[in-house]
Amino acid sequence: MSNPIIEAHNVCFQYEDAAAPAVKDVSLTVEAGEFVAILGRNGSGKSTFAKLLNALLLPTGGTLRVNGLEARTEDDCYEVRRSCGMVFQNPDNQIVATIVEEDCAFGLENLGTPPEEIRRRVDEALLDVGMAEQAGASPSMLSGGQKQRVAVAGVLAMRPRIIVFDESTAMLDPVGRRDVFELARRLNREEGITIVWITHFMEEAALADRLLVMDRGRVALAGAPREVFAQVDRIMKLGLDVPEMMKLAARLRRAGVKLPEGIMTVDEMAVELCRLK
Ligand SMILES: Nc1ncnc2c1ncn2[C@@H]1O[C@H](COP(=O)(O)OP(=O)(O)OP(=O)(O)O)[C@@H](O)[C@H]1O
Ligand SMILES: [Mg+2]
Repeated sequence: MSNPIIEAHNVCFQYEDAAAPAVKDVSLTVEAGEFVAILGRNGSGKSTFAKLLNALLLPTGGTLRVNGLEARTEDDCYEVRRSCGMVFQNPDNQIVATIVEEDCAFGLENLGTPPEEIRRRVDEALLDVGMAEQAGASPSMLSGGQKQRVAVAGVLAMRPRIIVFDESTAMLDPVGRRDVFELARRLNREEGITIVWITHFMEEAALADRLLVMDRGRVALAGAPREVFAQVDRIMKLGLDVPEMMKLAARLRRAGVKLPEGIMTVDEMAVELCRLK
């Protein structure tokens, strides 16, 4: 049954003094509980769209409903931000306090939440992201991946229905990257939080329920990752690449190895290789 949590109809956004809109006529629906990835070359409008979802920016055209609410007034914007949290790229830019748990409490304090409720929610959120032991630590002592987990905890404490991750793994090493990606996947699967995952990593995009490719402010391609990545020529023209395992599968096929179409991940490749006689 359809249960849309994000509904965009011809959404446009133009920065002041910009010659062209950064987001143009974007129409899409995201269902509650979906994990949607957004790819697109630099400047294609991904972060602008993310900020529209979070009501940090308001559309200059079209309509956008997030969790049933169209942000028009300041109060609406607060409500939208409460239901749609955002985790950014640079972990250092999101930390505002000198102690982990105070950092997580920041958003709730701004909303005037009673102290005992803040305590409960922050403890719960830090436990959820596996950072309870570091509650009293200084964020400056943490790794990049741990800082991102603290940022996620701060968002979780607000009990959002949607979390937008805007290249939140871009500055992390491979271990930190997997850690934060898996955290987002678990929050999606186990807690039903809708995830919008903006990335330049094809391997991450391959694991989403649905993939959107942006180009010059528009949604150029959309569908299941397997269908989208199958359009190799279009993907390349949009300045992107396909997952490494798809390229390897194509090379192996050319060398005579009988592999089925649509292999995208290392796990799928391993299964298919083990099946070969
Ligand atoms: N604050 C701003 N003022 C004016 N123009 C902006 C501003 N922020 C972004 N833009 C422009 O809007 C367009 C879309 O930028 P946006 O940051 O949304 O792209 P992106 O897809 O997130 O890129 P990247 O992959 O580099 O993060 C670009 O042309 C960019 O130069
Ligand atoms: Mg961006």
